[in-house]
Amino acid sequence: MNNDRRGVAMHESSHTETPYTALGFYHKISQLRADTWNALKRDLGQLVRLSDESRVRNLVKAIDVKLTRLEIIEDYHAFPSKEDFRHLWSLFDREEYVLLEKVVKRLVRALISESYRRRHVDLSETDADAEDLETLDALAQLRHGHPASNSSAQPYFELLIVDNLSAQEEEVVREAFHSLRRPEDRFVYDVVTVRSFEDALIAVLVNPNIQACLIRYEFPYKSKYNLSALRNYLEGLSEQELEHQSEAERSILLSSMIHELRPEIDQFLVTSGDVEATASRDIRHFNRIFYRETDYIEQHHTILRAIDSRYRTPFFDALREYSKKPTGVFHAMPISRGKSVTRSHWAGHMIDFYGINIFLAETSATSGGLDSLLQPYGPIKKAQEYAARAFGARQSYFVTNGTSTANKIVVQALIKPRDIVLIDRDCHKSHHYGMVLAGAHVNYLDSYPLNDYSMYGAVPLREIKKTLLAYKRAGELDRVKMLLLTNCTFDGVVYNVRRMMEECLAIKPDLVFLWDEAWFAFATFNPTYRPRTAMHAARTLRDRYRSEAYREEYAAWKEAFDALDPDDDATWLEQRLLPDPDTVRIRTYATHSTHKTLTSLRQGSMIHVYDQEFRQRVEAPFHEAYMTHTSTSPNYQILASLDVGRMQAEMEGFELVHAQVEAALSLREQLYTHPLLQKYFRVLKNIDMVPAEYRESGVESYYDPVTGWNQMEEAWARDEFVVDPTRVTIAIGNTGVDGDAFKNEYLMNKYGIQINKTSRNTVLFMTNIGTTRGSIAYLLDVLIKLAKEFEYRWEESSRPERKIIERRVHSLTRELPPLPDFSRFHDAFRQCSETPEGDIRRAYFLSYDEENTEYLRFDNGELQAEMRAGRDVVSASFVIPYPPGFPVLVPGQVISEEILHFLQALDVKEIHGYRPELGLIVFTEEALAAPPET
Ligand SMILES: Cc1ncc(COP(=O)(O)O)c(C=O)c1O
Repeated sequence: MNNDRRGVAMHESSHTETPYTALGFYHKISQLRADTWNALKRDLGQLVRLSDESRVRNLVKAIDVKLTRLEIIEDYHAFPSKEDFRHLWSLFDREEYVLLEKVVKRLVRALISESYRRRHVDLSETDADAEDLETLDALAQLRHGHPASNSSAQPYFELLIVDNLSAQEEEVVREAFHSLRRPEDRFVYDVVTVRSFEDALIAVLVNPNIQACLIRYEFPYKSKYNLSALRNYLEGLSEQELEHQSEAERSILLSSMIHELRPEIDQFLVTSGDVEATASRDIRHFNRIFYRETDYIEQHHTILRAIDSRYRTPFFDALREYSKKPTGVFHAMPISRGKSVTRSHWAGHMIDFYGINIFLAETSATSGGLDSLLQPYGPIKKAQEYAARAFGARQSYFVTNGTSTANKIVVQALIKPRDIVLIDRDCHKSHHYGMVLAGAHVNYLDSYPLNDYSMYGAVPLREIKKTLLAYKRAGELDRVKMLLLTNCTFDGVVYNVRRMMEECLAIKPDLVFLWDEAWFAFATFNPTYRPRTAMHAARTLRDRYRSEAYREEYAAWKEAFDALDPDDDATWLEQRLLPDPDTVRIRTYATHSTHKTLTSLRQGSMIHVYDQEFRQRVEAPFHEAYMTHTSTSPNYQILASLDVGRMQAEMEGFELVHAQVEAALSLREQLYTHPLLQKYFRVLKNIDMVPAEYRESGVESYYDPVTGWNQMEEAWARDEFVVDPTRVTIAIGNTGVDGDAFKNEYLMNKYGIQINKTSRNTVLFMTNIGTTRGSIAYLLDVLIKLAKEFEYRWEESSRPERKIIERRVHSLTRELPPLPDFSRFHDAFRQCSETPEGDIRRAYFLSYDEENTEYLRFDNGELQAEMRAGRDVVSASFVIPYPPGFPVLVPGQVISEEILHFLQALDVKEIHGYRPELGLIVFTEEALAAPPET
């Protein structure tokens, strides 16, 4: 390898103005990698056909730069190997461009088809058969998204070795591991070697194939490259200190940082030092320690076994085994084994469509290798334990009827009648009904409104602290049991979960948190997102509060805090609060619609628990609540898909989520920069969705046209709220078409594009782990066509027609009714006059007696007249307009002027709980005067 070129590479990676050098480089690494290889192939193709001297010179220079950049990237990948790169450079140096083009073409084909995962690709030899296979694979990959030949059933991964090896030593180690491969191995792997601490971190960030890491002897701290991709992750680490650490200390620190970035990676330590001393330290992130003498065979088998324990899918495997067994069916499930349809004269096409396996796997048996969801003891239990490992929970539970049910289970398990729950009012409807069922006394919290887009943000920490302090003053804090928030929101606003919990626990040390992460299961598998998940925050806080360092921090903080004025609420609101380590308990729950963001059949959801009180106080009621809501005939296919979804997330979640973020960033980038698209479609950025007071970092947009996507980590590390960039909300007011019409008439009917969230003037495009670069390109193509259509419409309109368009645009961009706050519960449903919570259950059931309610119309002024006459008009039902899809009224809530104004200004067709011909259903004054039940 040419060392001078390395110098160029280092320089380029740190100083050039190319967009993707810093964090942007990391965010778009796989696209950058693919694009650069393709561009190199194109350059070489041109070069071999050129005769013009000066153009030849320029192209050679461009090829040199690309090869140099690729070499940096490929340094962290097993294929192409360092040996392969030496071959490329030698062809380049010898000006054998024709051969170089051929080799690069082959290499690109191998990367596209991923044939290197299935067989050894030797670039120094011309093997016509292998090339043919690669060509077929590459074509199939382009056409169908998967290779034609899958000759090996062995999944492939890469083993990262961290050791300061020479090139020759590296080859020896690689060969040693290669020589251990056996056809009967469950997996096949190749080796990537890095020589420093920083390089190891870069490798796990940029190479998703790495599944295991072997940290060997002494290695330096600094990378030879200067990639600032690590800036945020390395914050707080002093280089000097690191340089002076012992071998063991450095290895342990590296392992904990790798664990923070990619917790799924299996790590092993090979130590040459004092083994016993190493073993007595905090080595929890290592699966195993090997001694210098330990042979490669032992390491090889240990690594394969570790990967296998993640790859296993206990319930899916059990179901597949079961489906192969001959069984006589004498129970009530005629479709099991396809019996009712295989011989049917009319329903056979169901088998044609689904295939037979799904019927062979349909059973109500809980024995024969299967298990019972309601009382799991076998493969379901195991599958749930694996899910807990994957999501960082202490316990995980599968739910086969969606997060709508998961939410009700958690609330019922923890809340008894009259317990107070603080909850964001724009939460999913399952929570409102859950509150009714549990008999909770509900305190609805208002999220900050985004009136310009008819949507809500999230509930600020300050509001929640204020609410808790009000309960403290009223002597009612004991009754406050749970804080229930949606993270992230439908529109992608994400809380700073850890900070929220920390400060709330300082006021109420045993508060239970239920984070509705219906849309956030994928977040666990990305290092930027993960710290904002409930399970990660719970674990981090628990570790923090157990440490001596925290005790000291708390003592110093308490002294300073007490010197202020602790009796004044303002002190509590202005100061960042810390909980008392002697009283604090971490009690955190999260619900995931696994089916929304990861692989799972519809309705596959999970409940994740991190509750220090669970075993002692919750397990039994949780079990009862689970029984209350779970079918006695749970769908096995959903359970199996949850098991596979978990496995997939543990094996390739990092890669898939990274690709999803990449796809979303590409979409955003085009929308930010394309002049015609910008005219009609404005992507909402952080600055649009998060008011300045909640953006401590000051970051307005993650994207900068010069430096790329380099601001995301900073905002995610610091801000109270951030926007999940994978959810792309576009303001379409300038088109003059409202969200609903845009969704149905333009996107769906004309182009077959499905979306499921609109507001009056926005549409939400969600990416997911299945979103490809191709689908982003299609969407952009459609949006460009639509923008052109709007452009022509304007150009070809008459003067009156233009007036109409202008009026519509004005209405959609200027005339937006302010979103109403929660008014209040009527006194008839309140127990405490000082605090606002209401008994929603009493209000809900009071409406069951017809004589307690009446209808009042607001379109003819009837309802307003009653209000003017001094009557508290109180809703007897939920009233939920779609969009925005949250209740503007709940049972027991006093109707306010603002709410009526909002309802009148709404131009949506669908308002649940409202019958235009009758009006709103409200309680009679007599019903409200009756004494509350005790
Ligand atoms: C925030 C939130 N929670 C819960 C749910 C319900 O989830 P599921 O569809 O899995 O029942 C949804 C559904 O959209 C949601 O948006």
